[in-house]
Amino acid sequence: MNPMPDKAREMRQSIAQDWIVPPYYDQAEAWLGPFWDEGTPFRRLFDQLDLSRVIELACGRGRHAAQILDRVGELTLVDVLDSNIAACRARFGDDPRLRYLLNNGHDLPGLESRAYSALFSYDAMVHFELLDVLDYLRETARVLRPGGRALLHVSNNMENPGGHYHQNRLWRNFGSLDVVRHLADRLGFQVLDHTTLSWEGQEAIDGLVLLERR
Ligand SMILES: C[S@@+](CC[C@H](N)C(=O)[O-])C[C@H]1O[C@@H](n2cnc3c(N)ncnc32)[C@H](O)[C@@H]1O
Repeated sequence: MNPMPDKAREMRQSIAQDWIVPPYYDQAEAWLGPFWDEGTPFRRLFDQLDLSRVIELACGRGRHAAQILDRVGELTLVDVLDSNIAACRARFGDDPRLRYLLNNGHDLPGLESRAYSALFSYDAMVHFELLDVLDYLRETARVLRPGGRALLHVSNNMENPGGHYHQNRLWRNFGSLDVVRHLADRLGFQVLDHTTLSWEGQEAIDGLVLLERR
């Protein structure tokens, strides 16, 4: 991967700092319906993943991991904040199905290539810098085995190019579902499904995309 320009690195660090806040995690813990209720787009697409060897990117404090732990073969929890990895360790302990990975905000260091059945990320990439989304697509293409799938919740908000995500509705960073679909195609994925999502009354501000490694 190319070295990151200074501004992009500063942005990444500033975004990560925003998510140290414990109140978010306590509140989010009780807010699982949009992701896990029957009939939601998240649930419909998640049920198309093979859970034998899964990565959750930007896992926070483990609210999604707790939903699937009894169904996975192996689950690797990845986050840029050591406080979140520590919280997951405290929550799940030495469960033999779990691995923990503190990353650099755009990579999956140390994860074996062509080895994983699925990767998913919810309520996090919507905030990421587009360059980091690109890096994560590349890394996801690297670690998934052929036929492995990725389910990504991304920003579909093209307001304020060059701005800071704090200035945007719902802190959605500059992003586009169509750009993600295009990049994914070029990086060796088939786009199996995709949909825009409305969030807190903001129409089509997010996107959800299901990719399969060719
Ligand atoms: C809004 S929280 C969502 C956490 C979790 N996905 C959930 O739904 O509960 C955003 C998460 O993204 C993580 N994060 C922020 N920037 C990141 C980056 N560049 N790479 C990986 N994780 C990042 C934060 O540490 C935090 O865990």
